[in-house]
Amino acid sequence: MQLRVNGSLHEVPDRWKKETLLTVLREHLGLVGTKFGCGDGACGACTVHVEGGVVRSCQMRASGAEALEIVTIEGLVGTGADLHPVQQAWLDERVAQCGFCQAGQIMQAVALLKENPAPDEQAIVEHMNRNLCRCGTQARVQKAIQRAARELRGQS
Ligand code: FES
Ligand code: FES
Repeated sequence: MQLRVNGSLHEVPDRWKKETLLTVLREHLGLVGTKFGCGDGACGACTVHVEGGVVRSCQMRASGAEALEIVTIEGLVGTGADLHPVQQAWLDERVAQCGFCQAGQIMQAVALLKENPAPDEQAIVEHMNRNLCRCGTQARVQKAIQRAARELRGQS
């Protein structure tokens, strides 16, 4: 099968078809920015974008993503100073602590700002509340999303 990830087409042997998208991303393609947390769809650490929407990659078979556009945290990263505005806001607000949940948080936040360029506090809480963080970074996540939203609105 073939998977299109971060703009590139990858040949994936058929034996990976029944694995989750998360397993294929990490173990076959080496895209380890996406994390395995609960493996049960409950934590959000494995969040990626499929066709522009957020997907828990631990809950999707790799075969189900064939012919779809997949973006992982690696696909958001620019080169050096060319970070995605959400990533830059994360740095500016010093959001990360241990970091384990953060790729999923950022992918979830990017999707929010595509749908809603000016989310209020409640909208952010509702959109992000299924992305768990054991380190308690939620207040900084809130501030970083508001900062990124301002930045993105300024760019448009
Ligand atoms: S690892 Fe997929 S939701 Fe937790
Ligand atoms: S930063 Fe440690 S789990 Fe979120």
